[in-house]
Amino acid sequence: MPVYSEKVMDHFMNPRNVGEIENPDGVGEVGNPVCGDMMTFYVKVKDNRLEDVKFRTFGCGAAIAVSSMVSEMAKGKTLEKAMKITPRSVADKLEGLPKQKFHCSNLGAQALNKAIKDYLSKKKGGGKK
Ligand code: FES
Repeated sequence: MPVYSEKVMDHFMNPRNVGEIENPDGVGEVGNPVCGDMMTFYVKVKDNRLEDVKFRTFGCGAAIAVSSMVSEMAKGKTLEKAMKITPRSVADKLEGLPKQKFHCSNLGAQALNKAIKDYLSKKKGGGKK
């Protein structure tokens, strides 16, 4: 059994920002074929900032804690800053992740990134008129 930090346990037991956003500006879904875990991030953007961030995660305890932490870190940030959230910075904020659980934090950073890119590509395509 991996040993989790108190921060991980806290975010696992009481995850923040769980759920979906109605009419999101961007959605990012990623999965890990090895463990089969899935994460979806939803973002709402206003004035180049992440006004709201929510997620649905079907995965291990670390994946849930990671999603919760990523959503907290991302909320209120500019898109540029939010895209710089790395798996390492998420793991650090969680006071560390066991080595075999590090891929869980990759998923979180990737899913958020994908959601932001989704928003940017929709914007470029002139989806909203
Ligand atoms: Fe795969 Fe955690 S075990 S995301």
